[in-house]
Amino acid sequence: MSELKNDRYLRALLRQPVDVTPVWMMRQAGRYLPEYRATRAEAGDFMSLCKNPELACEVTLQPLRRFPLDAAILFSDILTIPDAMGLGLYFETGEGPRFQTLADNKATIENLPIPDPEQELGYVMDAVRTIRRELKGEVPLIGFSGSPWTLATYMVEGGSSKDFAKIKKMAFAEPATLHLLLDKLADSVILYLNAQIKAGAQAVQIFDTWGGALSGPAYREFSLRYMHKIVDGLIRDYDGHKVPVVLFTKGGGQWLEDIAATGCDAVGLDWTVDVKAARARVGDKVALQGNMDPSMLYAPVPRIEEEVERILGEFGHGDGHVFNLGHGIHQHADPEHAGAFINAVHELSRKYHK
Ligand code: CP3
Repeated sequence: MSELKNDRYLRALLRQPVDVTPVWMMRQAGRYLPEYRATRAEAGDFMSLCKNPELACEVTLQPLRRFPLDAAILFSDILTIPDAMGLGLYFETGEGPRFQTLADNKATIENLPIPDPEQELGYVMDAVRTIRRELKGEVPLIGFSGSPWTLATYMVEGGSSKDFAKIKKMAFAEPATLHLLLDKLADSVILYLNAQIKAGAQAVQIFDTWGGALSGPAYREFSLRYMHKIVDGLIRDYDGHKVPVVLFTKGGGQWLEDIAATGCDAVGLDWTVDVKAARARVGDKVALQGNMDPSMLYAPVPRIEEEVERILGEFGHGDGHVFNLGHGIHQHADPEHAGAFINAVHELSRKYHK
């Protein structure tokens, strides 16, 4: 494997010394960039973009041409797995993801297949291989998946949800059925992420966007337990290099110790978490990733710089911090402000590193 020209992101996840704090942005390839909107229009729709490895590679690289980001993230979606299980994913304009078939009953769940990553999800692996080739060792490539719980919310509810009534009903009235679904998803995610690693992903992140909708005990039973199973099943060393694993539960700030105890390398933080307290709570067990409120990019540049300085100061001296937004960048964010944010992280963090 060719050596990386910039490996700050991987070093920070492994809590090794870096010159400046590395930074990337959740959803860094997306609608806030006019060049993304143009490529998506060329592809036709969002899923056609995901399923075309050359165009998926193009949109992955677009933010890296504009900004000195320290990592690239595979352009795809977490809902590729339920799509590959045969549920028929589609996107309704303005309404987010939808499925033709729901996995909201025992019979359907029992019959769900575990997708072969090099078959039904071969387009994702082709995108990973294409992106790795085109990155030419500039920065590492992040692979990703949704958490079983977060994937299950879309599969049971049929799309985005405000109260998660259907899946919570299943969790509390028919727990064995939900556990069967979550277990199949965990097995699918292990195969999927290991295939991404073999295809060239140099770190992997699990997005648990909806874990925060649960109580503590329900979070441990229905979300964390399956992320733990995935962490245990992942390839952690590949081609002579460590492959760091990052777990991100939005709204999971109360459970940082439990998340860190899964054996992951890093924990993603949303903006509601106090970084200083988080660092004290997890100690040197894991690295931390985060956590500026994405809405801060609407502020004037000096205010963004002030916020970057505040967060860097909260983390303080020492290794093990990857700067990021606490959630995805908004589609109406100004790319110039995103650029100012990234430069501020690099410039203002120098004093915290020897
Ligand atoms: O970060 C990146 O640049 C990589 C690409 C990426 C996308 N989705 C592209 C995308 C990643 C990492 C995801 C993950 C994802 N997808 C999550 C977890 C992270 C999070 O945001 O909490 C979730 C919950 C999804 C499911 C999903 N996909 C939703 C709810 C939507 C609609 C949201 C919206 O803003 O309309 C999508 C579509 C989607 N995935 C878009 C992008 C760029 C927008 C689609 C478009 O171009 O219209």
